[in-house]
Amino acid sequence: MMVAIPELDGATWPMTFGGRSSATADERTRDMSVHPERAAMLAARVAKLVRLRRTDRADRKIAIVIFNFPPNGGSTGTAAYLSVYASLHHTLTALKSAGYSVDVPETADVLRARLLEGNAARFGADANVAARIGTDDHVRRERWLGDIERQWGPAPGRHNTDGGGLFVLGERFGNVFVGVQPAFGYEGDPMRLLFEKGFAPTHAFAAFYRWIREDLGAHAVLHFGTHGALEFMPGKQAGLSGDCWPDRLIGDLPNFYLYASNNPSEGTLAKRRAGATLISYLTPSVAKAGLYRGLVDLKASLDRWRALEPETVAEQRESLAVLIQAQAVTVELANSEPPWNGDSQIEVERLRAAVLELEYTLIPHGLHVIGRPPSAADRAELLDAAGITDASRRAALDTLLAEDHETPAIIHALDGGYLRPAPGGDLIRNTDVLPSGRNLHGFDPFRIPSAFAVRDGVRQADRLLQRHRADGLGTPETVAMVLWGTDNLKTEGGPIAQALWLIGAAPRHDSYGRLTGAQLIPLEQLGRPRIDVLMTLSGIFRDLLPLQTKLLAEAALLAANADETVDMNFVRKHAFAYQTKHGGDFDQAALRVFGNADGAYGANVNHLVDHGGWQNEDELADAYVRRKGFAYGVDGKPSRQDAVLTHLLASVDIAYQNLDSIELGVTTVDHYFDTLGGISRAVRRVRGVPATVLIGDQTRGNGMVRTLSEQVALETRTRALNPKWYEALLAHGYEGVRQIEAHVTNTLGWSATTGQVAPWIYQQLTETYMLDPEMRERLAALNPKASAKVANRLIEAHQRRYWSPDKATLDVLRRVGEELEDRIEGVGVGVAA
Ligand code: BEZ
Ligand code: MG
Repeated sequence: MMVAIPELDGATWPMTFGGRSSATADERTRDMSVHPERAAMLAARVAKLVRLRRTDRADRKIAIVIFNFPPNGGSTGTAAYLSVYASLHHTLTALKSAGYSVDVPETADVLRARLLEGNAARFGADANVAARIGTDDHVRRERWLGDIERQWGPAPGRHNTDGGGLFVLGERFGNVFVGVQPAFGYEGDPMRLLFEKGFAPTHAFAAFYRWIREDLGAHAVLHFGTHGALEFMPGKQAGLSGDCWPDRLIGDLPNFYLYASNNPSEGTLAKRRAGATLISYLTPSVAKAGLYRGLVDLKASLDRWRALEPETVAEQRESLAVLIQAQAVTVELANSEPPWNGDSQIEVERLRAAVLELEYTLIPHGLHVIGRPPSAADRAELLDAAGITDASRRAALDTLLAEDHETPAIIHALDGGYLRPAPGGDLIRNTDVLPSGRNLHGFDPFRIPSAFAVRDGVRQADRLLQRHRADGLGTPETVAMVLWGTDNLKTEGGPIAQALWLIGAAPRHDSYGRLTGAQLIPLEQLGRPRIDVLMTLSGIFRDLLPLQTKLLAEAALLAANADETVDMNFVRKHAFAYQTKHGGDFDQAALRVFGNADGAYGANVNHLVDHGGWQNEDELADAYVRRKGFAYGVDGKPSRQDAVLTHLLASVDIAYQNLDSIELGVTTVDHYFDTLGGISRAVRRVRGVPATVLIGDQTRGNGMVRTLSEQVALETRTRALNPKWYEALLAHGYEGVRQIEAHVTNTLGWSATTGQVAPWIYQQLTETYMLDPEMRERLAALNPKASAKVANRLIEAHQRRYWSPDKATLDVLRRVGEELEDRIEGVGVGVAA
């Protein structure tokens, strides 16, 4: 409460500087006291803000930090939804006109080349080397050297180094330094990926921030886009101490963070853990996917079918049906065998629905550029998607969208000015996110789940059960549900409410309407058995929603203890079964909320997949269990509970997660297969058979439950294979290619974790991006590293038996991969010479 409410009120950089000591037992006699180290830090922070305000713009030194994730794959500088180099170029130009001493490269491409190429090849580095810190200097000055060496060995370690010193990657443009944040360091290190807990940053990471603070003497730092690694370094969740890494690294440096307006959850972490003041930016426009190539032809034939006169002769009808079937086969919407014959009408109806869904699915359109508001046409599509029909409201929102609020906010923030708070969320659901350029905040923790979310949770959870029954699979005993912070924040706790309803529970409130815990809904009212729910939390959920973590644990415990027969209460059934087999107390047997160890995030399955250094899919399951095997009880505290988790995995029928925003599909980011894919693989390892993997898509209308393979197919058709999607990305060049690569890598991640990706998807991705010489050359010219990664991923997918291309296709892929690798090396040599 003391953390969340000030954020809603617009506090910037709040911190803990005192409290009651635990030294005295009796709370009432304990005095509030100041914590000297924290108070000194608070004073230092205020002094730095004053210094920022008082320094003339011309004399201010600013560090702009871009990211490099995943490392080495043509992703340097990329950020969610943002065209980073164009935005950066615009920002440097704006700073110059505001009076900063900054040398602005002629174009965004020149800027990118100076950062990514520059002297990189000479140093064998990932980007231009702006400074080299000698190992002696690092050892002498690094305050937490011992902690770092315990994890990473003696300085300088293995990252961003030539063995004798550490590189600070980036480039100085007058008084503005643009730096490339070092990677976490463990991404390419399968052994470290198995660590349960967080650990120290690398030598390079610590040195990077020390250099900005002490050597550059920056007045402020601007983290450029969603998101980097600083705020995910080990430490407490809120109220950080001087022992927490984000606090150590950022110290007293004013920290501004350009952040996607639809991501209040991770944004909140950046605020709480790294002292960031967020400056929100718009997410890209959305558009209807529309149809292309073979889908257009198919639609035309479907229209012809519909226009057939009732008296049309059977022969003519059948010949059109043959054509439709053939056209549907080319776009993988039907099988060629058996011929439809008498079933044509049913098949045509089915196809019509499938094609309509593809045509009207909303997709993100291109990337956002700071300083470049969406075009009139894009604004109109956005406002249509948001369902704004009221003319005066529409005009007002259109004006907010048409104005640039972000550049002025950056200038104002760097003057040490105050930024107003703003709710975060999807523009099409919540237009209060406008204007952007404000400090995002989260939510009131006592109001989640809201009354609306509880009602909607019932509908969505029932939809899930209906789908399972409709597929002929009956009532599930256990649903493994993935809970994230983002979707819960945007829907006031919708997924939490779904989990409660499956268990047959509801939130309980005090007379002020504040959340106090859980209560059971009587079985008569529920009308079906209580379903067991294995809830796995993202690290972000755990950090942001501690009250709700306890609420969910309490709901499970109440259900396990309810005096009901086990055929009507699967939570109780499984808890008894566990106890019979393993002993222990009943509270332990009723643990259902799982997540990471304190201070750790993610299952690392995504990093393993990106790195590719795994042999057998079971390794992914093991990594998942290792990372997510901590149970959170009714006290909200984690404990390692592998046996309970494994026992529950054996009963899981459905693995399930909600999808809440158009911007973020299951193939857009690697987190979905990390969490939902990870648990699916863990279920399969224990049960020996795959679980059904379902997605609750609530991005439009009333919502829709799809199987994972349906969802991946839908996204592939409406996005990766759709010129409307990829041309809008490729217009942003380098970063567009990285997005395409991400789609391919994430698709492989789904194959690896669930085995539920149809082979045609790889075939068509290959045809679209690799077999077409013109497209291949375009991608290679824009971003050779990411293009090589696409080719190599497709080959990897074949080697792992996720598809089997014919020999000619495979030969092309191999040749392309090799040529691109040569080209990457060749480019390096050219620059060095
Ligand atoms: C979350 O909001 O919980 C989340 C966001 C991105 C990746 C993983 C989890
Ligand atoms: Mg993230």
